[in-house]
Amino acid sequence: MTVYNLGKQNSVANQFLAELRDVNIQKDRLRFRHNLLRLGQIMAYEISQKLTYRPTDIKTPLGKKLMHLPATDIVLVTIMRAGLPFLEGFQRVFDKAETGFISSYRVEGNSKITIQTDYLATPRLEGKTVILVDTMLATGRSVADAITSLLSRGKPSQVHLASVIAAPEGIDYLKKNIKLPATLWTFSIDEKLNSRFYIVPGLGDAGDLSFGPK
Ligand code: URA
Repeated sequence: MTVYNLGKQNSVANQFLAELRDVNIQKDRLRFRHNLLRLGQIMAYEISQKLTYRPTDIKTPLGKKLMHLPATDIVLVTIMRAGLPFLEGFQRVFDKAETGFISSYRVEGNSKITIQTDYLATPRLEGKTVILVDTMLATGRSVADAITSLLSRGKPSQVHLASVIAAPEGIDYLKKNIKLPATLWTFSIDEKLNSRFYIVPGLGDAGDLSFGPK
């Protein structure tokens, strides 16, 4: 699995991520969702550089210009509910993409965690580029389970995993457990998971901060 950590490069993306993490600024739910959306747009642009392109003649009012345009069918898939604001950024950039949804949640035990998936609504994926949008890559189990479920809908030509913050444990888990080539994109690889499987220092619960506590 190839891993791109976009936060290593200084850019305005790190300001948006700092605001997501900041314990005072993150209280503003509208700003929190908006920063996730902006990071989704930035990451979508970065991923766009890895897609395949086809030369296409474009007719302007004054002539013709040969341009290279994306030639892949993209399916954006998100894991609800925390992925929704981040997804919106991807949808704004990849405006022709189809979108799929997975509803899964963590069942927390004393020392382990299992993922319960209740709902899968995605288009056919055969030969398409799948971008799986999961805001916080913590244990990696929901992403690995999501990929297993998604393969029942056809074999994608490319798989990109998009997260705002990733934990080293989640990256290791995916490296060992996903059986197809995939590229992981993130803005930060944080220190570790805590005993409740939250990312430290992370930002807290992205779903609660976006939509309110459960
Ligand atoms: N999901 C979150 O929202 N935060 C974490 O730290 C881990 C998973």
